[in-house]
Amino acid sequence: MNASELEATARDLVAERKGILAADESSGTIQKRLASIGVESTEHSRRAWRQLLFTTPGIDEYISGVILFDETIRQHANDGRRLVDILTANGVLPGIKVDKGAKPLVGSSSEKVTEGLDGLRARLAEYCDLGARFTKWRAVIAIGPGLPSSHAIAVNADVLARYAALSQEAGLVPIVEPEVLMDGSHDIHRCLEVTSATLRRVFQSLAEQGVHLEGILLKPNMVLSGKDAPTREGPEAVAAATVRCFRRAVPAAVPGIVFLSGGQTDAEATENLDAINRLSADQPWELSFSYGRGLQATPLKVWGGDAANVPAAQAAFQERARLTSAARMGAYEPAMA
Ligand code: 13P
Repeated sequence: MNASELEATARDLVAERKGILAADESSGTIQKRLASIGVESTEHSRRAWRQLLFTTPGIDEYISGVILFDETIRQHANDGRRLVDILTANGVLPGIKVDKGAKPLVGSSSEKVTEGLDGLRARLAEYCDLGARFTKWRAVIAIGPGLPSSHAIAVNADVLARYAALSQEAGLVPIVEPEVLMDGSHDIHRCLEVTSATLRRVFQSLAEQGVHLEGILLKPNMVLSGKDAPTREGPEAVAAATVRCFRRAVPAAVPGIVFLSGGQTDAEATENLDAINRLSADQPWELSFSYGRGLQATPLKVWGGDAANVPAAQAAFQERARLTSAARMGAYEPAMA
């Protein structure tokens, strides 16, 4: 591990105005996304969609890095260049999802633990050779009656830390993603409680396993009311709860917090990120984004699988990136949209 290189990469990923595009949907998830626009998921259609995103003119103005899926890091564009090389040539850092998905946790009827540690050291070495500069691992924590269990939080935190240590050993910046899901009718206070408990346990495991905090990024949920809550809090309350939670649980050594969009609408994901940044001029970390749906949902609809729509879809992606970048600086105005 070269600590100063890890630190420099982590800082580049949260450079001013910039954030991360998560384009690492697993085979099952991308199939659902493409089905939503009536397109069958094939090697060809997945490549066409991701090539459209990565070749968007001026992508590097707002996007610092892209998280890829295993298939994508090996794919070539129509002009024969590797997709990874196109990103790198455009000044965008390629990253890679290295977990193998959340699987049922033994002894629990509904909780999950993320798999993928077996053989990870060898896979990381290969991803390094393929040009990756950073990695991602997602753990999921569900809120519900009697959930989450402290056991599920502990198991996932230990696995996240093991992944982060191996990633740093390989010279790759780990994006540590403990996602507290927004599914359910719980209120924002319950989300605050569970997110705090999860983050505290994750940072305990990271410390125990010797992870270099200056060389990671944290990818968490925002602190939100549940999706089906009778009343859902607006951006100011979300920002207050989110910043309070992170000030209590996330060490100042961490260079950046890159939020996931997690199923929020485009408007919510933008307005909440903006409110968080408006509140947070003096926070110790950069507060940026690592959005999947929040950047892709609109351009995906505009594309609809039709090559004739590529320029319009790229314009829609640029627009989502521009607005999300403004929110990342706390400078978003609805009139910009
Ligand atoms: P969403 O922004 O769609 O939640 O995706 C981010 C991500 O990478 C989840 O792992």
